[in-house]
Amino acid sequence: MESPFNADLLKGKVALLTGGGSGIGFEISTQFGKHGASIAIMGRRKQVLDTAVSALHSLGIPAVGFEGDVRKQEDAKRVVDSTFKHFGRLDILVNAAAGNFLVSAEDLSPNGFRTVMDIDSVGTFTMCHEALKYLKKGGPGRSSSGGGTILNISATLHYTASWYQIHVSAAKAAVDATTRNLALEWGTDYDIRVNGIAPGPIGDTPGMSKLAPEEINSKARDYMPLYKLGEKWDIAMAALYLASDAGKYVNGTTIPVDGGLWLTKPRH
Ligand code: HXC
Repeated sequence: MESPFNADLLKGKVALLTGGGSGIGFEISTQFGKHGASIAIMGRRKQVLDTAVSALHSLGIPAVGFEGDVRKQEDAKRVVDSTFKHFGRLDILVNAAAGNFLVSAEDLSPNGFRTVMDIDSVGTFTMCHEALKYLKKGGPGRSSSGGGTILNISATLHYTASWYQIHVSAAKAAVDATTRNLALEWGTDYDIRVNGIAPGPIGDTPGMSKLAPEEINSKARDYMPLYKLGEKWDIAMAALYLASDAGKYVNGTTIPVDGGLWLTKPRH
């Protein structure tokens, strides 16, 4: 689908995306690139990174991949520094890396719980922490007036409660709290906006194929207000809005992009 935004919306900007090589993260990488940004992708799997970077190059998008695990602070630091070295600035950090699997609370080991907290919550904070020096106003490659921006990909699971996702719900609740607290501290001190997006069920993603078998999928259509799954494009458009000047007065919020699903209950 055609983007409603101008192609130069992010012209001259540099974005670093964790988990930017697949699923929702890759769609955001692509759309940011199509709107003028240069793209750095961080991920654990070299082959996924290579494929993603080639795909971006074939669209004429400047892109580079860096292997790394958001659970390792030294990886986070190396990738943030490498992004700056490669492109000479950093304007947008997108935390899209996430771990997930369905398991009952009874069967989930504390280490399984901790693993997802480490990836989603601690990983998000670690990336923000390491990126701060480049994102803050007056930082390397920046003027003394404008700061960069952070986008944290969250979920709607924890607005209520979700079966077999206690670990992810807890982790995303922490992500949302991190979004608000960084928006307060870094918005005030460094002119950095920090926001989130909470996707609903989005078709053609690792999350959906892993979490929602086909029958759940079709059942959901009976009570979803918009009667359809979202597309990765929907999330990328929200990301463009929040990361660009279109969202310049938006700070500390997480926007659900789920067709209103989290509000709904089955009719019967
Ligand atoms: C129960 C599991 C498990 C499973 C791992 N564990 N998978 N427990 N069921 N399916 C437990 C392990 O037993 C272990 O605990 C601990 O977690 C660590 O497991 P490892 O395999 O050593 O970890 P690691 O190799 O680092 O992998 C972590 C991972 C990750 C979380 C499994 O690789 C992963 O999920 N990758 C998929 C990424 C993904 O799907 N992304 C899309 C996210 S979608 P013990 O106690 O045995 O040591 C998303 C959407 C949310 O986030 C909202 C949806 C609406």
